[in-house]
Amino acid sequence: MPIRPSQGDPRHDPVMLREVLSALALNAGDTVVDGTLGLSGHARAFAEAISPGGTLLGIDWDQEMLEIGRQRLSEVEDVEKHFCHSDYRQIAEIVRRHKLVPNGILLDLGLNSAQIDDPSRGIAFSKDGPLDMRMDRSRGEPASALLNRLGPTEIENILFKYGDERWGKAIGKKIVEIRKAHPLRTTHDLVEAVLAAVPPGARDKRIHPATRTFQAVRIAVNSELEGIDDTLMEAARCLAPGGTLVVLSYHSGEDRQAKHAFRELADSGGYLDLFKKPLQPTPDEISRNPRSRSAKLRAIRRFLT
Ligand SMILES: C[S@@+](CC[C@H](N)C(=O)[O-])C[C@H]1O[C@@H](n2cnc3c(N)ncnc32)[C@H](O)[C@@H]1O
Repeated sequence: MPIRPSQGDPRHDPVMLREVLSALALNAGDTVVDGTLGLSGHARAFAEAISPGGTLLGIDWDQEMLEIGRQRLSEVEDVEKHFCHSDYRQIAEIVRRHKLVPNGILLDLGLNSAQIDDPSRGIAFSKDGPLDMRMDRSRGEPASALLNRLGPTEIENILFKYGDERWGKAIGKKIVEIRKAHPLRTTHDLVEAVLAAVPPGARDKRIHPATRTFQAVRIAVNSELEGIDDTLMEAARCLAPGGTLVVLSYHSGEDRQAKHAFRELADSGGYLDLFKKPLQPTPDEISRNPRSRSAKLRAIRRFLT
């Protein structure tokens, strides 16, 4: 069943689609779980590969993304579809609840372009909006509350741990100083704090001075790096014999966890780590879709017996 390319905004080019499909090697009738459904770019291609008779489960913790993903898959008729608003760290429990034995699982970590470009989410430093950054806006603490609450050293630690920000100490102190006059409310408030803390002569010319701070705060707000390794091992244990788990990561902290989890699985016997080194996008893909540039793909396959 041919599927038309997705139409209309918001857009997101599925990263390393060819490599993901080749690693998963899906067949008609297979069961596949997309733990990070997003705008269903990958999932649409999965639906095509498992049709007719396959089963697709899509998970996303962002209700808005899940709805767009669901709607974009609505034209797919000859595949059984399930959708779940949840954190993929619950993947093993969700798969069990749906009584599925997946032949393929994808975790495409991080955010999609629609989330980055939406000013109401406060993720991009280039767009003024509320300083929120939560992926699941139904719970948790927005970035503004976190930065108005933490002490300077705690802020510095977050900026260093998740953003490798060398100016974390100065930025932490500046945030605390500024919020004495007025609490941080918007993305521009945070950009201004960074610009006031990092002297012009010390700025990296290749990236905006607030890039690392925004990445680090977003990772902290969403606890994005917590428990990825355990989740990957649990997900791999759900696979059908011969099934494959693929992970796309965009941050060294994510890839490190994937590497360790896959090594442990391979050492335990029963799994084959498909690539010694992670695959990366081709120069051609990076020029078409610059947001793919930091992607790393790893895959692990469960032995047949
Ligand atoms: C890079 S996008 C996925 C894009 C998708 N593969 C596509 O081609 O359209 C990542 C998606 O995963 C979701 N996500 C990130 N972390 C998550 C988590 N811990 N649990 C569930 N969903 C998550 C985000 O909300 C986002 O929609």
